[in-house]
Amino acid sequence: IYVVPPSRQVHPFLNKEPKTAHNTLGGLVLCEYFEKEKMSFTGKKVIELGSGTGIVGILAVLLGGNVTFTDQTFILKKMKYNISVNIPPWLTNHTKVCALSWDDDLSCFPTDYDVILGSDIVYSSSSYPSLLQTLQHLSNHSTTIYISSDVRPVNECNVFHAEMLPKHFHCERVHQSGNNRIHVYKLTKKHNCKLQGAVLAIGL
Ligand SMILES: C[S@@+](CC[C@H](N)C(=O)[O-])C[C@H]1O[C@@H](n2cnc3c(N)ncnc32)[C@H](O)[C@@H]1O
Repeated sequence: IYVVPPSRQVHPFLNKEPKTAHNTLGGLVLCEYFEKEKMSFTGKKVIELGSGTGIVGILAVLLGGNVTFTDQTFILKKMKYNISVNIPPWLTNHTKVCALSWDDDLSCFPTDYDVILGSDIVYSSSSYPSLLQTLQHLSNHSTTIYISSDVRPVNECNVFHAEMLPKHFHCERVHQSGNNRIHVYKLTKKHNCKLQGAVLAIGL
């Protein structure tokens, strides 16, 4: 896998020099987790949030997924280039690139994704409410979400992972790496408690 540095020369993904490779540690660790788990996305409808360079989504395509890469509009040009140089022509129809800002009206996005991916997208507390809403909109009870986060205190991501997400999702930390600085979380949507209560009441 290759990534594109500002010079637009192609550098190997494994080049850890931060000035040439713009992948985050969170992205690399999520890829490492997929490798460790021998993950397959074959036949899965996948969406990646905050794709950046696209490294995680690119791996998901190579592992069989139909991937929608998303990010803010100004990121998309570089991402498209990275996808074009890393995805073989016979898999191009397994990729889609869309602008998706978490504050956007999401009604044009479906809610039937099998998998949602996000690496290093939990770092700015002002975006936590809209990120949470985005995850809620795009997911259903069969969706599996993988998020990797840098848990340095300055990121305050504990508020998101320990307080906000567990109200709506079952959350499990499934992997740690990078001197335990990067945590990978696996989430599934909780059933609506009020609805469950109503169903139980009717059953009684
Ligand atoms: C630290 S980068 C991580 C990029 C990539 N996932 C990786 O790990 O290499 C965070 C990404 O989230 C995107 N992002 C931040 N706030 C966003 C928002 N409100 N809506 C959509 N994307 C956002 C940024 O544009 C950026 O690409």
